[in-house]
Amino acid sequence: MRIVLGVGGGIAAYKVASLLRLFTEAGHNVTVIPTEVSTRFVGTATWEALSGNPVSNSVFDDVHQVNHVRLGHEADLVVIAPATADLLAKAATGQAGDLLTNTLLMARGPVLFAPAMHTEMWQHAATRANVEMLRTRGAAVLEPATGRLTGADSGPGRLPEPQVIFDAAMALVQGQTDYQLPLAGRTVTISAGGTREPLDPVRFLGNRSSGKQGVALAVAARNAGATVRLLAAHMEVPVPAGVDVVPVETALQLREAALAAAADSDVIIMSAAVADFRPAEVSDTKIKKRDDSADPVITLVRNPDILHELVELRNSALPNAAGPAGDHQLIVGFAAETGDSHGDVLAYAQAKLQRKGCDLLVVNHVGSDKVFGQDTNSVVILARSGSEPQEAAGTKTEVAAAIISRIGFELNHVSPRA
Ligand code: CTP
Repeated sequence: MRIVLGVGGGIAAYKVASLLRLFTEAGHNVTVIPTEVSTRFVGTATWEALSGNPVSNSVFDDVHQVNHVRLGHEADLVVIAPATADLLAKAATGQAGDLLTNTLLMARGPVLFAPAMHTEMWQHAATRANVEMLRTRGAAVLEPATGRLTGADSGPGRLPEPQVIFDAAMALVQGQTDYQLPLAGRTVTISAGGTREPLDPVRFLGNRSSGKQGVALAVAARNAGATVRLLAAHMEVPVPAGVDVVPVETALQLREAALAAAADSDVIIMSAAVADFRPAEVSDTKIKKRDDSADPVITLVRNPDILHELVELRNSALPNAAGPAGDHQLIVGFAAETGDSHGDVLAYAQAKLQRKGCDLLVVNHVGSDKVFGQDTNSVVILARSGSEPQEAAGTKTEVAAAIISRIGFELNHVSPRA
């Protein structure tokens, strides 16, 4: 496929190098057209080297090839990233002052804008009108991600992750003209890993959670267009790029972070393995073994049930039940279950779903060799709405994609429960 990749003059231009890589590695022939201003952020040499094609932003280079007509005409897809406020305005009003805007006027295939700018600019009536105009004419304009912007400020305006733009571009080419990612504009908080409950400065009570499933969920949510906040307890895997990470150690720290995050989350996924108990006393100094004293006894106390508290907090906001995106906040729990002579895994899980009050419960069937630390998983997703249990199995990445897709469906198609 021939792709024209227009690069606007914003600091996020550097991220577009990764997007270009995704396109070329997928076998596409990409011509990069950077605006004049954008070359102050990333030089043309970078685009030439990564695309393997000549790069120009002037209508007067290689005039014999009539590039200002040819490039747009031949393109199967045009992607603009970052689409600055200036570039959106120029595109909306049909300006043709440089090679990129000429190309946009000539393009007859799908056109995708991936905006990036400060929140105020994105929310300004002028930009809103330009975006509306472009969408009315059939262009796809992604919602920017929410998060840290260039300065100390944060809000909607971040360039969506390269993988997100890539996925949106591919969907657009496949004819999904009204394409918006299922979690675009949503904020998703995910807890992952296992908490560690200290006994003394060197010892703790921990668990076998590796954090793999939580991290896979964070990546899947990010790729579905969400702004992702990862509440990261102890994990054996690195945190992914493009998500905001809040490191936590203990259940109490996780509780604090989760309750704070609830205020602006559309979705909360509690995939962390939270210790149900913590040592009643934490010694300031290392507990020593002494021949003259009895072996120490560790007394444990209950940790708060964070998932249950999140549900109570959400429900206390009823009857409005409005999350930041104007919908019911969706809360997803995980359950590691084993069956026994009194009941099977699903029966116990159904009871837990009712007890915890969350909207979805992702159920793992655990045994000593299953789930923890493994790369594959097999789950059943139970819904409080009573719809049929849904099974998902495969790599943790595949299972995460199924869970995130179900969450997208619940948010976009299932009406809020009072
Ligand atoms: N969880 C929580 N706070 C806790 C314990 C667990 O928020 N103190 C969350 C987990 O993140 C998970 C869900 O609750 O989403 C289920 O955890 P699980 O340990 O399976 O259930 P428990 O409530 O501990 O029930 P039980 O031990 O009786 O099976």
